Amino acid sequence: PQRVGILTGGGDCPGLNAVIRAVTQSLLRQCGAEVIGIEDGFAGLLCEPARARRLDWDAVSGILLLGGTILGSSNRANPLASAQATALALANVRRLGLDALVVIGGDGSMTIAHGLAQQGLAIVGVPKTIDNDLYGCERSFGFDTAVATVTEALERIQTTAHSHHRVMIVETMGRWAGWIALESGLAGAADAILLPELDYDLPTLARHCQARLQRERYSVICIGEGAKAQGGAPTLQTSPALPADGHPVPRLGGVAHQLSAQLQPLLDAEVRATVLGHVQRGGSPTPFDRVLATLYGNQAAQLLLQGQFGCMVTLSGGQLGHIALAEVAQQQRTVPAGHPLLQAAQQIGVCLGQADR
Ligand code: F6P
Repeated sequence: PQRVGILTGGGDCPGLNAVIRAVTQSLLRQCGAEVIGIEDGFAGLLCEPARARRLDWDAVSGILLLGGTILGSSNRANPLASAQATALALANVRRLGLDALVVIGGDGSMTIAHGLAQQGLAIVGVPKTIDNDLYGCERSFGFDTAVATVTEALERIQTTAHSHHRVMIVETMGRWAGWIALESGLAGAADAILLPELDYDLPTLARHCQARLQRERYSVICIGEGAKAQGGAPTLQTSPALPADGHPVPRLGGVAHQLSAQLQPLLDAEVRATVLGHVQRGGSPTPFDRVLATLYGNQAAQLLLQGQFGCMVTLSGGQLGHIALAEVAQQQRTVPAGHPLLQAAQQIGVCLGQADR
C-alpha cells in the first residue's frame, strides 16, 4: 500500500498508542507507505472534510507508554447509520487518497469495519477492549492493564473492609462479559465474584458473607457491571436509537448499589459499594499490554503488506493470526460455563453466587 489510514474507534483503552506506533513504524520501515491518522475515530471520517493528519516517525515517538489515544476516539459515530453516511465515509477515504484502512476497535468498530469492507474498502482490524470480549481473540490489549487497576483497588478495599468489619462491594466494567471481574476478583482475593454469565442467588451470597463475617469479620465482593440476581431484570440495555454497533447504555454504579441495598437487610455488618468506572480504562498500559499491542500493530502491518484485507488480527493458542471480519461482527466472547478459572474459584471457596446443590 502507498497510503494507509488508521483510526481508533469506541471506548479508549491502554495500549492504543502502542498499536498506532507499531503500525506506523512497521509500514514506514518496511515499505515507506504514508500513514494518515484519522482523528476522533469514525466521527473524524464523517466530517467534511475528514479530520486527519500525517503520522511520521516524530509523530509516534514517545507514545508507547501513553494511555488513551493520540488520535482521539468516538463512541457514537457510525458510517453505516445511513446510506449518506456510508457514501461520505467512502468519499472521504478516496479524497484522502487511502488505499487501505486500519481500524483499531471493539465489537462495534469491527461491525462497522465489516460493513465498510463489504463496500470495497481494504480494511484490517485490530482487536481493542479492556473487556476482553472480542470473538476470535483470546486476549485483547488493555485487559491486562484493567485487571491490574481493579486488583489494586480490591487490595485497597480489603484493608478498609478489614478495619471497619464491613462487606464491601466493588463494581467493575466488562459489559456482558465477566472477564475483568473474574480475573481481578481472583487476583485481588475477593470472597465472592459475581458475573453477568452466572445470575447470582441472593440468599446463597448472603449466607456466604454472613459466614465470613463470623469467621473473619469482613468480606469483599467483586461484581461485573452486567451481573444480575436470578430472576432479576437485565442491568445493561442496548438502545435501539444507538448505532448498529450495539454499544450499551452503561449504567455504571447500577449493580453495586442495587446489590448493597439487597444485602444490607440480610447481614449483621455495614455494606458499602464502590464503582470503579472509567479509572479502569485510563493510564499507562502494563508491560504485557505494551508488548501485545506492539505485536498486534505489527501484525496488522504485515497483513496489509501481504494484501490480506477484510480481517482482524487475532491471538489464538498463543499464536498471532487473523480472522474474517464477517465472523467477528456482532459477536461476543463471554466466560463459558465450566471455564477453568470458574472451577478454580469455586474449588478454593470463592462464592460465585450459585446455590449449593
Ligand atoms: O467497552 C469498554 C467499556 O469500558 C465497558 O466495559 C463499559 O460498559 C463501557 O465501555 C462504558 O463506555 P462509555 O462510558 O464510554 O460509553
